[in-house]
Amino acid sequence: MSPRIHENTPYYQFGTERWPGPFSLSSVSSATDDAIANHISSIDPDECELYSEDGVWIVDFAIIRNQLEIWERLLPRVKIFYAVKTNPNPRLLEYLVNHPMKLGFDCASHTELSEILSLSVSPDDIIYANPCKAPSHIRYASTRNVKKMTFDNITELYKIKTHFPDAECILRFKVREPTPSENPSEGAMYELSKKYGVTIDYSCEILLQAKKLGLNVVGLAFHVGSGQRNIRAYTHHIEEARRIWEIAREVGYTLTILDIGGGFMYSNFEEAAIAVNTALDSEFGDIIERGELDIVAEPGRYVSAPAFTLVTSVIAVREAKEEVRGKRMVYLADGLYSNINAAFWPGELTSPTVVKGRRMCTPKSTLPTSSASSDSGIEVEEEDNASMDMEGGVATLIRGDLQEYSVWGPTCDCMDIVIEDALLPKGIEVGDWFVFKDLGAYATSMRTTFNGFRTSHKVYYINAEGVDVDVL
Ligand SMILES: Cc1ncc(COP(=O)(O)O)c(C=O)c1O
Repeated sequence: MSPRIHENTPYYQFGTERWPGPFSLSSVSSATDDAIANHISSIDPDECELYSEDGVWIVDFAIIRNQLEIWERLLPRVKIFYAVKTNPNPRLLEYLVNHPMKLGFDCASHTELSEILSLSVSPDDIIYANPCKAPSHIRYASTRNVKKMTFDNITELYKIKTHFPDAECILRFKVREPTPSENPSEGAMYELSKKYGVTIDYSCEILLQAKKLGLNVVGLAFHVGSGQRNIRAYTHHIEEARRIWEIAREVGYTLTILDIGGGFMYSNFEEAAIAVNTALDSEFGDIIERGELDIVAEPGRYVSAPAFTLVTSVIAVREAKEEVRGKRMVYLADGLYSNINAAFWPGELTSPTVVKGRRMCTPKSTLPTSSASSDSGIEVEEEDNASMDMEGGVATLIRGDLQEYSVWGPTCDCMDIVIEDALLPKGIEVGDWFVFKDLGAYATSMRTTFNGFRTSHKVYYINAEGVDVDVL
C-alpha cells in the first residue's frame, strides 16, 4: 500500500532555524502557531500532571471570521444555517449567534434545538434538518415553534401531521444517480444520499400525500454529500430542484425556500460558489428576480474545520524491529475514539506535522545495550536532548530523513489506527507532538470515553483580545 502521507512532511524542532509555520491559514493569522509552540514548550513528560500529554485544541476565531466573510462575498444571496452537528463548541456557537451576518442554524435533534434556542436564536432562524425525527422531538419543536423541518418519507408526514400540523415542511431530495466523477476520490467524502432524500420520480407521490394531509410544504432541500470535491454536484442538484419545484406547483404548492445544504469545503469554495451562482441564475433566475425565493445553505465543515487545530503528543514508540511489518509504530495520546475520529474516513485527515517536544530525560543512547530500545537503529544526535533547553517557546524547523511509520491511538483496540502508512521524520520519540490542522469538523462531538480516556480537553481560544484557555 502506498504511503498516505506525502514525503516532505516537515519535522519541527525547538532551538535551531526559525519555524516558518504555517499550521493555520497563515494568511489570516499566525496566532495558532504561537499557541502551539507555547503549549509544547510547557509540557515536560518527566514531570507533567496527569493527562497533560493529551491533545489540546487551538481555535482561531480570525479564521472563522474570514470564512464567513468569504462566504458573504461569494454567495451573498445564500443565508447560512450553520450545521450544529459539525461542531457544537459553545464558544463557536456564541460567536456565530452574535455575528453581524445574522446566521441561522441547522439542528438535528432536541438537544441541538434546545442549545440554539437557549442562545436566544429566533425559532424562525432554525431548520430542524433531519428527515427522520423521533416523535417526541417533533413535539418539542412544536412547543418551541421551530416550524421549518425536512422530510423525505410518508411516515414522517404522518408524524408531522399528528405532532406539529402547522410545521413548514421542506422536502429533501437527491439526484437519481450520485453525480459522476472521473475519479472516485473527487466525489463526496460522505454520500449522505445513501441515507436520505427522495428522487424526482417519487417527489410527485409524496407531495400529493402531503397535500392530502393538508400539510404546508414550503421548500426543497438537498445535500450534495459532505466534503464534496466534485462541484458539478451542486449544478445537478439545483437543476433537479427546479424540476421538482414545478412538480410541487402542479400539486398545488407555491414553494419559497431552496435549501442547498452543506458539503462545502474551504479548499474548493470559490469554484463551488461559482457553480452554485451560475446554476441559481439559470434555473431560478426568474423566481429570484420576482423576489420569491429564500436561498439558504447548511454549511458545517466549511465554517468550523479550518479554525480548529489539534496538537497531541507521542506517548509510546515501538521500534521497527519490534514489529513484524518492520515499520516504526508511534502511539498518540489521541486517536480514533477521541479527537482523531476523522482517521476513520479516507481523505479526511490532513497530513500531520511533527514537532519536537521536551523528551524524556534519558536518551536511548545511554540505556544499557541489553535493553530492547537501546539498539533502536536510530541515530540519536547529541542535541536530541537540547530540546530540554528551549528558549522562550519559539519553535524552529529542522528537516529529518524520513522513515516508514504507522500511527496509532491510545486505546487497546486495533481499530484505533490514525495513519496506517506514513512517511514521517526519522527518530520521533515520546514527548514529541503531532499537529493536525483543519480538524474542526465532526471531531469533538464524536469523542468517547472508550478505555477510560477522557472526553474533555484543553482549548486555547484565540480572539481579538488575545488567548483564552478553557477545558471542554
Ligand atoms: C442535513 C445536513 N446538513 C448539513 C450538514 C453539514 O454538512 P457539511 O459539514 O458537509 O457542510 C450535514 C452533515 O451531515 C447534514 O446531514
